[in-house]
Amino acid sequence: MSSEKIPVIFDCDPGVDDAVALMVAFAQEKLDILAVTTVAGNVPLEHTTRNARAILATMGVKNRIYKGASEPLMPVYKEVATSVHGATGLGNYSLPEDELHPLEPESALVAMHRILSEAEKPVTIIAVGPLTNIAILIKAYPELKEKIEKLSIMGGAFKKGNKSAAAEYNILFDPEAAEIVFNSGIPIILASLDITLKATMSGRDLLNLREVGNPISLMLADTLEYYFGGIPSMDVADSSDTLHDVVSVLALTDPELFTGMDLKVEVETGGNYCRGYTLADFRSENKSINRPAPIPNTYSLFDLDVEKFHKKILEAARSYK
Ligand code: RIB
Ligand code: CA
Repeated sequence: MSSEKIPVIFDCDPGVDDAVALMVAFAQEKLDILAVTTVAGNVPLEHTTRNARAILATMGVKNRIYKGASEPLMPVYKEVATSVHGATGLGNYSLPEDELHPLEPESALVAMHRILSEAEKPVTIIAVGPLTNIAILIKAYPELKEKIEKLSIMGGAFKKGNKSAAAEYNILFDPEAAEIVFNSGIPIILASLDITLKATMSGRDLLNLREVGNPISLMLADTLEYYFGGIPSMDVADSSDTLHDVVSVLALTDPELFTGMDLKVEVETGGNYCRGYTLADFRSENKSINRPAPIPNTYSLFDLDVEKFHKKILEAARSYK
């Protein structure tokens, strides 16, 4: 395993689970986070951007935040997830303007173009919101695809959606963007609901986080209590909301925590009931010469060691002052 750091752009729509994912990501020695970019999703762009600024300020980390797309490519569906993340997207948490982490003047697109163009080696993008920014980037600058090492995406659902019977929120918010990204040829580690719903948090996990006692842990404990609608049962998580986005971070730094398979995944952009559905083509497992397997475009995750997963989150939380 190379000891070299993984250069990363972190694209997100904070969002409570995005906030936990940012905390875990910034604590990883293996990651060199070059930028945080924001996108409209859980809540409108103004809020996701303000939340990213509040999260980085609370962590006390240096980095650069760039504002991305305010609308999906085809603004058919823009329902926000305030019922889950709160009116502004981080429960009841916010900071006064003068305490927020600064926002860069460059747009996310311009910054991603500059960072990728100047990168000495290909950059990995962690994408845990709608894929609008990534789709715009690769459509505007297709030559930069070779400067993207891989995408670690939280999105999709093969069996059961969360925002509709068929679709997971990030994909349904911008299916056209997802279709562009999934067909881009860029390697994808995919954390669909099929695994992220196993990234549960029990009441004990939540109390362990609160007991860390530093500002970011206390903030996350408060916002997670909002997100779960209270403290989950002590020894088992009883919430349909989980730490979705954290999976896409640890899948890069601690791949041994996960199991998955190479899989062809298609994105439905039409339909009345299935818009945003991610179709897993399990014929990818075909070995018969008479029925050649479709070429996989993802490594899709299906299982994780949830105890070790929480150990990593606590280790990360304890690394902050
Ligand atoms: O469906 C869960 C995903 O949608 C997570 O990334 C959550 O933050 C929201 O963006
Ligand atoms: Ca998210």
